[in-house]
Amino acid sequence: MDDKNFETEAIRTQIERSQFLEHSSPLYLTSSFVFEDAEDMRASFAEEKERNIYSRFTNPNISEFVAKICKMEGAEDGYAFATGMSAVFSTFAALLNSGDHIVSARSVFGSTHTLLTKFLPKWNITTSYFKVNEVDRIESLIQANTKILYAESPTNPAVDILDLELLGNIAKKHNLILVIDNCFATPYLQNPIKFGADLVIHSATKLIDGQGRVLGGVVAGNKELIREIYLFSRNTGPALSPFNAWVLSKSLETLAVRVDKHCENALKVAEFLENNKNVNWVKYPFLRSHPQYKVAIKQMKLGGNVVAFEIKGGVEAGKSFLNAIKLCSLSANLGDTRTIVTHPASTTHSKLNEAEFLEMGITDGLVRISVGLENVNDIINDLKQALVE
Ligand SMILES: Cc1ncc(COP(=O)(O)O)c(C=O)c1O
Repeated sequence: MDDKNFETEAIRTQIERSQFLEHSSPLYLTSSFVFEDAEDMRASFAEEKERNIYSRFTNPNISEFVAKICKMEGAEDGYAFATGMSAVFSTFAALLNSGDHIVSARSVFGSTHTLLTKFLPKWNITTSYFKVNEVDRIESLIQANTKILYAESPTNPAVDILDLELLGNIAKKHNLILVIDNCFATPYLQNPIKFGADLVIHSATKLIDGQGRVLGGVVAGNKELIREIYLFSRNTGPALSPFNAWVLSKSLETLAVRVDKHCENALKVAEFLENNKNVNWVKYPFLRSHPQYKVAIKQMKLGGNVVAFEIKGGVEAGKSFLNAIKLCSLSANLGDTRTIVTHPASTTHSKLNEAEFLEMGITDGLVRISVGLENVNDIINDLKQALVE
């Protein structure tokens, strides 16, 4: 970030005040904008003027949200989307041609995996995968037609960590576009551009909203690449709604304080689970026992709010644990004020086969906890009583 600190930019980056001199940004719930005359309209469409035309292209609330994200990520430019998945899809669709190739970590969000394996091949775009513990294989997967190196860190749902500096170096050496899904870390905990990423993607639905209200996505990074993504999106229509942009921009004002507390609670939950006799293993980036702990502390400010663990007793034990939960929610989202417990094998990742599961670090008994902002003692008490059922 150029001059001011993160929290200040998150609060003080604001679109121009209207004639009413409001303190907090108003909501511009309008599909289109008007022109002074024919010449103004012509010049606007010719992009000789930077101004709003139609909310599928740009809108003041969306611009404010994107401007904040760019400052937080150290990005030149960005574009916001209706969902995280439309951000992921539009990035691939805008930047790749038929015959192009992606090298991706195997551990990616379920829908991203489905996009890579089922849909992109329809347009002759193929993907080779590396496991998170096999980063030394990445260079051998690169082909003459490889354009994008893609990864998440921490990964969903197994909370593995990839070394962003290493990925940045590989991408630079082979002239690839490095795209990092930074959803679990948020721009507060990790800035992939610092390590060489060209583009950073967020599902803003998660910690950026932070209260389980709206869907949203954003891509930020290199100006020329964002221009391609903008041209694709302006014509295909995955735009974020102004209302959701307004909500998300307000949410960013409190991102730092919320995420600090989420991380504090998550570390306590992870430490509790690590000492529970009914748990086989726990993965949390800032636990010393995490296999990539050293990388995590190098590239993240704190460990995030997601904890993964495996209950002793496999699928049946996992199911009875979920059934015994009283306070936490069984829900598909994450990054909410409310703690959420999920079982990826039977939900978000259920479309995968057994071999794919294991390659992604998912086991039948893996439980993912998105630790919320309730009093941590209440969260731990709920997990404790459910673990002894
Ligand atoms: C890492 C990651 N990327 C992308 C997405 C997709 O985001 P959305 O649900 O906003 O489309 C998710 C959703 O869970 C996610 O966890």
